[in-house]
Amino acid sequence: MALVIRSCRCDGQWIAGVAQTCGLGVMQEPTAPQYAGAMSIHYLPAIPIEGHVLSSPGSPDHPMRLATRRAAGLDEGGWKGDLRDEVRAYFDGMADEWHTRTSPERSAIVSDLLTRGLAATGVPAGLAVEVGSGIGAYSAMLSERFDAVVAIDLSLAMLRLAPARPAFRVQADGSALPLRDGSAAVMVLINAFLFPAEVARVLVPDGVIAWVNSSGERTPIYLSAEDLLAALPGTWSGAASRAGEGHWCVLRRGV
Ligand SMILES: C[S@@+](CC[C@H](N)C(=O)[O-])C[C@H]1O[C@@H](n2cnc3c(N)ncnc32)[C@H](O)[C@@H]1O
Repeated sequence: MALVIRSCRCDGQWIAGVAQTCGLGVMQEPTAPQYAGAMSIHYLPAIPIEGHVLSSPGSPDHPMRLATRRAAGLDEGGWKGDLRDEVRAYFDGMADEWHTRTSPERSAIVSDLLTRGLAATGVPAGLAVEVGSGIGAYSAMLSERFDAVVAIDLSLAMLRLAPARPAFRVQADGSALPLRDGSAAVMVLINAFLFPAEVARVLVPDGVIAWVNSSGERTPIYLSAEDLLAALPGTWSGAASRAGEGHWCVLRRGV
């Protein structure tokens, strides 16, 4: 059955109802005032993560937020060479201390995405591509869930600190991935830039994009679930939720 259909923001009561009807956690047709619109995102109840505290000072005018919106095509300017160089230098400079931004609580957000999120959409078999993988903090978790994972990052300084296995590391720009059309079942972006045309090109027709903002709206590289739908070409539906202070969204194309 198609996932949802109509969305309602974090209304646990309604979401619980909807599950019963469609077999995915929904119970009854919501009343009109509860609709956020006819978007295809099912908002699942938030879950707490004990001890998770915000680690990012992101705000709408953070340079990486501005770059995020340009990369996604949501703001003017596009992803030009000068911006790419600026972003690469920024993250090269943060590589040595990036491990301080990892924690069991942040991993728990990704774990929730991989369980509740992927259960909601289902996932076709095949390759998982993690874009903006950094020091590979989540690559092992992804490798436990998927048969093969390619971890891609623009910053060589970041990639050098990532484990060589089980994910395969590749230095590349997410705006021009060295991957064939339709070669990935899943693309995972954890606090990473969205390049909508490349996601659409590289995923199989019914592929999945999995998106995480570890510090929710305070994540410098932040897009809302609605931003994702607005930026991605084509038709997508899926689920979104909050885990601790983090947000995640999983969208599957054409279902
Ligand atoms: C905020 S960090 C997130 C790293 C990791 N996913 C995490 O959550 O710990 C963003 C990562 O995206 C990488 N990045 C930035 N622009 C990129 C691009 N155009 N293509 C691929 N990776 C990029 C950076 O080098 C950096 O490692």
